[in-house]
Amino acid sequence: MPILRSIFIALSTNSSLRQFMENSTLGVRMSSRFVAGKTVEDALTAAAAVNRHGMSCSLDSLGENVHSPQEARQAADVYHRLLDAIEQRHLDANVSVKLTQMGMDLDPQLAFSLAEGLVEHAAAANTFVRLDMEGSDYTQATIDMVSKLHTGNENRGRVGVVIQAYLYRSQADVDRLLAEKIRVRLCKGAYQEPASLAFPEKADVDKNFVRLMQCLLPSGVYHGIATHDEQMIEATRRFAKERGIAADEFEFQMLYGVRRDLQKSLVASGYRVRVYIPFGTDWYPYFMRRLAERPANLFFIARNFFRN
Ligand code: FDA
Repeated sequence: MPILRSIFIALSTNSSLRQFMENSTLGVRMSSRFVAGKTVEDALTAAAAVNRHGMSCSLDSLGENVHSPQEARQAADVYHRLLDAIEQRHLDANVSVKLTQMGMDLDPQLAFSLAEGLVEHAAAANTFVRLDMEGSDYTQATIDMVSKLHTGNENRGRVGVVIQAYLYRSQADVDRLLAEKIRVRLCKGAYQEPASLAFPEKADVDKNFVRLMQCLLPSGVYHGIATHDEQMIEATRRFAKERGIAADEFEFQMLYGVRRDLQKSLVASGYRVRVYIPFGTDWYPYFMRRLAERPANLFFIARNFFRN
């Protein structure tokens, strides 16, 4: 399986396959299991449905590594539209943003000012911006930027970041973020990283995930535990129970279309669940990372595809 993971991750950056997939009916139909649709309206419809099932959500306008400041501004505009709609429609939703989509590779200052505009808008709309974590080239810059964004008075508690349990550095990052009372989404990590930076073995990633979860949960800050791994979820539930941490002091987070059974059963047991809802036309890299996590998804999708 690790070989298949590497193949899918390598294919996630293949531009010819990307162009073919994103423009073909076949590709769009395949991706629909994990991607809520192409438009803002599709995302809002999915958000309302998720809310009706007793779960909150985080909306992700798909896209990474934009090529011009104009593209970055357009990407930010989509998020402003989402924030307006979240407020107007009273959705239980926030947004997840990638810094490379805000132009980080072109001009970090531009990325900062676009992200700052979004955090200020989110604060005014009584919601929240999560900066997703990308590959390790961006870890330090993303954490530094969140820290800077969080210092604005109105922005406190309105912006948070993601920590990847596969990185060796994550314990130190968690210590820093907790000292600054910044909200963290803890996940395992979805990118291809060298053994010099990340645990190559799943067992070690899992151990680190549990260790980091145990630092986050008692911190008094509201964090997200993002995983579909039942062992990680069970470890979190057990730890919270032992420490007397109430079910509304943290949330589980899962991806749209992944383990919907588990999402529902957690809600039924009284836990908070947030569903990460991606949408947009640039779905290819996101979709390929989901296949990398579970290559069996390809067979699942193909089976459903031919059934329909
Ligand atoms: P793991 O991969 O060990 O899988 C455990 C079990 O979960 C599998 O056996 C299977 O049953 C189920 N499962 C996992 N993935 C599945 C899939 N795609 N389809 C079907 N079943 C699946 N990463 C990152 O680097 N930066 C980020 O910002 C984020 N953000 C983020 C937000 C949210 C809400 C989630 C849930 C995840 C992320 N991730 C992420 C992705 C994360 O790093 C990781 O790649 C995936 O969540 C898969 O890891 P699991 O913890 O689910 O466990």
